[in-house]
Amino acid sequence: MDAVQWIKTHLAPSRCTSDKFVYDAMESQSDFGLPVIYRAFDPGKAWHWDDRGFILDYLFAVCGQGRRLLDFGPGDGWPSLPVAPFAGEVVGVDASARRVEVCAGNAARMGISNASFVHVPAAGPLPFVDESFDGVIAASSIEQTPDPKETLREIRRVLRPGGRLRMGYEGLGCYRGGKEREVWLLDMGESCRMIVYDRHIEDECADQYGLDLAMSARELASSLTGQAGANPRLVRIEHVTADALDALRPEILGAWVCTLSHPSGATYVKWLREIGFSDVRPTHGGGPFARELFSQMLPERRPASLEGVTELLSPLVRVVVEMPAPVEIDPMITAVK
Ligand SMILES: C[S@@+](CC[C@H](N)C(=O)[O-])C[C@H]1O[C@@H](n2cnc3c(N)ncnc32)[C@H](O)[C@@H]1O
Repeated sequence: MDAVQWIKTHLAPSRCTSDKFVYDAMESQSDFGLPVIYRAFDPGKAWHWDDRGFILDYLFAVCGQGRRLLDFGPGDGWPSLPVAPFAGEVVGVDASARRVEVCAGNAARMGISNASFVHVPAAGPLPFVDESFDGVIAASSIEQTPDPKETLREIRRVLRPGGRLRMGYEGLGCYRGGKEREVWLLDMGESCRMIVYDRHIEDECADQYGLDLAMSARELASSLTGQAGANPRLVRIEHVTADALDALRPEILGAWVCTLSHPSGATYVKWLREIGFSDVRPTHGGGPFARELFSQMLPERRPASLEGVTELLSPLVRVVVEMPAPVEIDPMITAVK
């Protein structure tokens, strides 16, 4: 019996939405790693270029300068907070009350006054009148909602005619070939949540099982791997055997299941057209482009500041976000109302 079968057989996990499943439980959704938000931008790091490329992507793809933008599902304030200095106003909506608090706290700490954050129910209409935003940006968030197609309908409703949605998302194609089942330990101080992902790639959906245990993530990692003081990141699904779960059973405080739809790029494009967006374009993304540029430039030719990198990338990313990309690679998508 594998971990998923064991959970289904021995526990009756309560169904919940992703905000309750994971986002309310995390102190930082990004492990305090985001450049600009949590740490100084480092022009010598490829992934910081990648991050800046994405920020400029979201900004230029929705023609954001001087306009009112909606960030759907900002997590710790990404991309809303780095985008805010270039926009008129940014409003972030998140179904996790904790994330909204974190975003507002980050905005205050960063001295950003044109970004606000609103808590919204996981399902149901957005609390805005029709056509109230010039653009919508959404990073890995639409597929975290209970009904992504309905979420897209709501996003279209609040966009003004001619307004654009720019969305990045997690398709499941990248998990093919051995990563369909994975485990991740979320530290919650005295307790932890062991999350088992069961991805159904062809069906474009994933079941996520969460077991709360009365021990720290490190203690759980030690128990599963048999190595004292084991790093929770080193735990693999192969460690989560039926025997291991039998042994842990007295420590299980609760069990949860959250099923998410993970549409591919092709499915999103189809849905966006069905919903009534007039123009739907899968395009290349500013993030991967910026990373590639970083690797192609000699270190001594690279700009040495955030401002310099922004200046270099800006005209290039403006072009990249208009360049068609094959939908099979689950690229960024722009949809025009
Ligand atoms: C994977 S995180 C992405 C966060 C951030 N955009 C980023 O890329 O770092 C998904 C975010 O969507 C939020 N979310 C989930 N369901 C939602 C819903 N129904 N409405 C609004 N936000 C939601 C989560 O709380 C979380 O902050």
